[in-house]
Amino acid sequence: MTITAAIRHGWPLGLVVWAGTWAFQNPQQAATQAATKEDHQAMMTLLGISSLRQGANGSNKQAPNYANYDESKANPFPKLPDPLVLKNGKRVKNARTWWKQRRPEIVEEFDREIYGRVPKVTPSVKWEITSTVNEKKGEVDVITKQLVGHVDNSSYPQITVDIRLSLTTPANAKGPVPVMMEFGFTGFPPRPGSPAMPARPPGAAPVGPSWQEQVLAKGWGYAILSPNSIQADNGAGLTQGVIGLVNKGQRRKADDWGALRAWAWGASRALDYFETDKSVNARKVGVDGHSRYGKAAAVAMAYDQRFSIAYVSSSGEGGVKLHRRNWGELVENVAGSGEYHWMAGNFMKYAGPLQWSDLPVDSHELVALCAPRPVFIGAGATNGDGWVDAKGMFLAAAGAGPVYRLLGKRDMGTSEFPPIETALISGDVAFRQHSGGHTPGPNWPVFITFAQRYWAPAGL
Ligand code: GCU
Repeated sequence: MTITAAIRHGWPLGLVVWAGTWAFQNPQQAATQAATKEDHQAMMTLLGISSLRQGANGSNKQAPNYANYDESKANPFPKLPDPLVLKNGKRVKNARTWWKQRRPEIVEEFDREIYGRVPKVTPSVKWEITSTVNEKKGEVDVITKQLVGHVDNSSYPQITVDIRLSLTTPANAKGPVPVMMEFGFTGFPPRPGSPAMPARPPGAAPVGPSWQEQVLAKGWGYAILSPNSIQADNGAGLTQGVIGLVNKGQRRKADDWGALRAWAWGASRALDYFETDKSVNARKVGVDGHSRYGKAAAVAMAYDQRFSIAYVSSSGEGGVKLHRRNWGELVENVAGSGEYHWMAGNFMKYAGPLQWSDLPVDSHELVALCAPRPVFIGAGATNGDGWVDAKGMFLAAAGAGPVYRLLGKRDMGTSEFPPIETALISGDVAFRQHSGGHTPGPNWPVFITFAQRYWAPAGL
C-alpha cells in the first residue's frame, strides 16, 4: 500500500503519517522493495517482456494517466468470452458438459494465465490448538481457539510456514454451527520479514455491531485466517512462504501460483481442520474478504467447491472486476511490481505485448466457477471506492448468470446496473453497492440476510 493509495482509501492522515514514518525508517522495508523489484524484473525477463504499459494513477487528477471514471470510455472491449461455449466452438447445453468439459477448460486458463497453478503435491498441514478461551463477544458467550497450522517443511527445512487461524463459536451452541472465515487484515503479529498491515481495513470506523457480532447473533461462528502467515504480501516473499517452500527457495515459473492462490490454499487447509472440529458444520463454511482479500475470497470460493458461500467485498481488478473494463484500477496496475505477486507471472503479459482482450477468460467466468453455490459481490460508492469498479464487478456477476441458470439456479434477475444501495439478493449470485467508501461494513447485514436463506432456512 503506497501513501497515495492509503489517502485514496480514506485512511486518517495521522495513520498515513505514522505508516509513512515507519516505512521510511525501516531498512528492512527498503530491502524488501529492492528484492521485489528484482523478482519482478526476473519474471519479465523470463517472459521475454522488455516493458509494461503504465497503470492508472488513482490519486492525481492532473496526471495524464489518471484513472478513468467516465462510463462512456469504460468498455473498449465489450465482447466477453462466452462461459458456455467450449474451446472447440460447441455450445454447452447441459450440466454434464459444464462439469466434465467446460469448467475444466476455464480452470486451466485461470491457472495458466491469471492466478497460477497450485503444485500437484503441496505439503501437509498439521493443526495445533495453541489456546482455548471462554470469553464474551458483545453479549454472546463464545469459545475462541487459536490455532497454528504447521506446514510440513521436511522437503526444504530452510523455510518454515506456520499458518495462523482463530475460530470463535457460540459457547451455548446445541451442535455444529456454520462459520464465516475471513482473510483478516491481521490482528496477528506480522511474520518476520513481512511489512505490518493496519489491524483494521482502511475505511470508515465501524458503526453498530461488528460483523462478528452480527454473525454470532444468527447463532453462527467466525474464523480469522492470517494471509501473511501463509504467503507474504510482496514479490520479495515469493521465494519464501508456502510458494517458496514448494519451490525450495527458487523463483517462480511463469505459471506458478501467486499469493492469491496461496492464500486460498491456506483457506482450504483451514477448512480441512474445520472438518475435524465438532463445533463447526463444515458443510456450511463461508469465506469472506475485502479488497486484496476480497480477491482471495473469490479465488478460494471458485477453486474449492467445499466452500458453501462467499462475501467478496471490493475485490476490484484481479478479483471479480472484468479485466476488459477501463475504470479505476487496471490490469497494468496489478502487473506492476507492487501487486504482480498476487498473480501468475503470465498475467503480466497482458500489460505488456498483449491486451486485456487477449485474456482467454474474464472475471465473469471466475464467478461462474463458484456456481451453483451462492456468492455475494459488494462494493462501495464510486466516490470513495471508484478504484474497484462496482459496475465492472456487477457485469461479471451478470455474466455468470447463464452458468447459474444452466445448473438450475437463479441469476441476479437483471443485467441493468442498479441504483446505489439496491440489494440484488433474490438469486444465487448477488450484488450490492453501498454508499460508503472502501469498506465491507455496510454490506454485512445484507450479506447475512442473503446467507440466512442457505444457512438458516427456518429463520433465527
Ligand atoms: C490497492 C490495490 C487494490 C487492492 C487494495 C487493497 O488499492 O490497488 O487492488 O485491492 O490496495 O487491498 O487495499
